[in-house]
Amino acid sequence: MRLLLATFLTALLSFRSSQALDFDVDNEGSIKNATALVAGGLLDYYTGQQYGQTIGMFSNPYYWWEAGGAWGSILDFWWYTQNDTYNAMLEEALLYQAGENHDYIPLNQSTTEGNDDQAFWGLVVMAAAERNFTNPPETEPQWLYLAQAVFNTMALRWDDESCGGGLRWQIFTWNSGYDYKNTVSNGALFHLAARLARYTGNNTYVDWAEKVFDWMKGIGLLTENDNSYVYDGAKVDGNCSTITKLIWTYNQGLLMSGCAYLYNYTGSETWHTRTFEFLNSSDIFFNNSILYERTCQEANTCNTDQRSFKAYFSRFLGLTAQLVPAARNQIMDWIRASAKGAAQSCSGGTDGHTCGLNWFYDGWDGKWGLGEQMAALEIMQNVLCLDRPAPYTAATGGSSVGNGAAGTETSATNLSPLDITTGSRAAAGIITAVIGLSIVACTVWLVL
Ligand SMILES: *[C@@H]1O[C@H](CO)[C@@H](O)[C@H](O)[C@H]1NC(C)=O
Ligand SMILES: *[C@@H]1O[C@H](CO)[C@@H](O)[C@H](O)[C@H]1NC(C)=O
Ligand SMILES: *[C@@H]1O[C@H](CO)[C@@H](O)[C@H](O)[C@H]1NC(C)=O
Ligand SMILES: *[C@@H]1O[C@H](CO)[C@@H](O)[C@H](O)[C@H]1NC(C)=O
Ligand SMILES: *[C@@H]1O[C@H](CO)[C@@H](O)[C@H](O)[C@H]1NC(C)=O
Ligand SMILES: *[C@@H]1O[C@H](CO)[C@@H](O)[C@H](O)[C@H]1NC(C)=O
Ligand SMILES: *[C@@H]1O[C@H](CO)[C@@H](O)[C@H](O)[C@H]1NC(C)=O
Ligand SMILES: *[C@@H]1O[C@H](CO)[C@@H](O)[C@H](O)[C@H]1NC(C)=O
Ligand SMILES: *[C@@H]1O[C@H](CO)[C@@H](O)[C@H](O)[C@H]1NC(C)=O
Repeated sequence: MRLLLATFLTALLSFRSSQALDFDVDNEGSIKNATALVAGGLLDYYTGQQYGQTIGMFSNPYYWWEAGGAWGSILDFWWYTQNDTYNAMLEEALLYQAGENHDYIPLNQSTTEGNDDQAFWGLVVMAAAERNFTNPPETEPQWLYLAQAVFNTMALRWDDESCGGGLRWQIFTWNSGYDYKNTVSNGALFHLAARLARYTGNNTYVDWAEKVFDWMKGIGLLTENDNSYVYDGAKVDGNCSTITKLIWTYNQGLLMSGCAYLYNYTGSETWHTRTFEFLNSSDIFFNNSILYERTCQEANTCNTDQRSFKAYFSRFLGLTAQLVPAARNQIMDWIRASAKGAAQSCSGGTDGHTCGLNWFYDGWDGKWGLGEQMAALEIMQNVLCLDRPAPYTAATGGSSVGNGAAGTETSATNLSPLDITTGSRAAAGIITAVIGLSIVACTVWLVL
């Protein structure tokens, strides 16, 4: 039923398709005008301000984690283009979804939420602190505090019982995926630790970043040198000896930019080299310098989540360019070529600026959705990344107030299965089983 409806809508949208966006990669005014249109298109999927809907959430079928991703793109939109039209809406969403314990495990999500889902909201509030985004009223939790709470609650779930460490994908035992230690959860813990280290100057976070990196490398989630790829995860069964060797842009980006933060903070040659290993190896995600989601795009199997991955990779490329001067030429070549491709794909829909998935297709490829819109927005606005200040730290302009113990002061987030009714537990199991299946289906398309 939903498939039929989607086909019908696609046909309807293509019927009215019109002119491509006016986008000149060398003209700041043009970039600002074009991204404002694309950002407006992104927020067409936002339902939080409609009657009976929930603040911070996007329309079906976009999961809660992707909403966190989308707000990150809106934060970047403000930062890179200095257009503050959506700032009030953004602040409201970030605070509303922070949850009862201010750690991004809101009760509504707690039965299904995984470590990676929580982390994607953590990334937005970290960026809010680094950009000195308007501080919330004193009665509300602050951006840095929220980022620390996400980090601390994740770090508490570090699991030495199997595989010599690592985070499991799921937070709760009854969700399928609890038996998988995945890269996006562990990579995000590494990445957040790197950013908190640089922002706060507290070296405990560096220790954590090293611990997570070494563990990932130790079990074979990260490979080395000219082929520094980041694999998808490992099954706990068999002590993580079987690696799922799927590669995704967002995982590559989490690792690359995490290394960039650590290099920028410590000045260490090791982190500089690692940044370049991940950067250089990223060339397999480009076709004539245009970014694509290699593992699913060609085979036309990218699911709803995977269609947004290029957004995060684009964001992480910009951050890496800001933090590692020697990486700038390579990164800007890729960003500029990809942004041109993305912009010319934004010629679909009744609004004429609905963005497609394939940026080297000539024009709009007929695909649309929150992921497509976010990815195009991020790559286009990151053309401006070197025109804006690098992430601030507490010592260089960031004013957000935190607390090293955030998230550990109450125990209420350690929900016990008894707190959750059988009905919602069963529903949660079904949802994650469906996600798990789609990952298995994708394995078939592995093109490495
Ligand atoms: C951007 O939009 C403004 C307002 O519509 C317009 O005046 C300006 O010429 C546009 N700039 C470019 C470079 O297209
Ligand atoms: C800022 O973004 C809004 C919404 O996308 C847009 O209407 C407005 O023209 C933009 N302002 C400028 C100065 O580009
Ligand atoms: C939780 O769900 C209820 C019912 O849909 C909704 O009214 C409420 O706003 C939601 N809260 C959050 C934080 O999402
Ligand atoms: C499981 O893997 C870890 C990390 O590689 C290793 O330290 C540990 O000895 C292994 N345990 C078993 C039971 O094989
Ligand atoms: C990355 O590529 C550049 C340019 O080809 C090369 O100079 C550099 O040594 C490479 N770095 C690493 C760590 O592989
Ligand atoms: C690379 O892009 C060209 C069009 O510019 C296309 O013909 C080719 O199939 C693409 N390659 C891959 C691997 O997608
Ligand atoms: C860290 O980033 C800043 C801001 O871009 C840059 O000026 C500085 O050179 C970088 N530090 C190192 C060690 O490269
Ligand atoms: C950050 O925000 C604070 C509070 O609004 C302000 O005092 C400070 O000047 C800002 N820092 C920068 C670098 O803009
Ligand atoms: C540094 O961070 C750690 C880990 O979150 C925390 O336990 C410790 O209190 C922090 N130290 C300071 C001086 O803030």
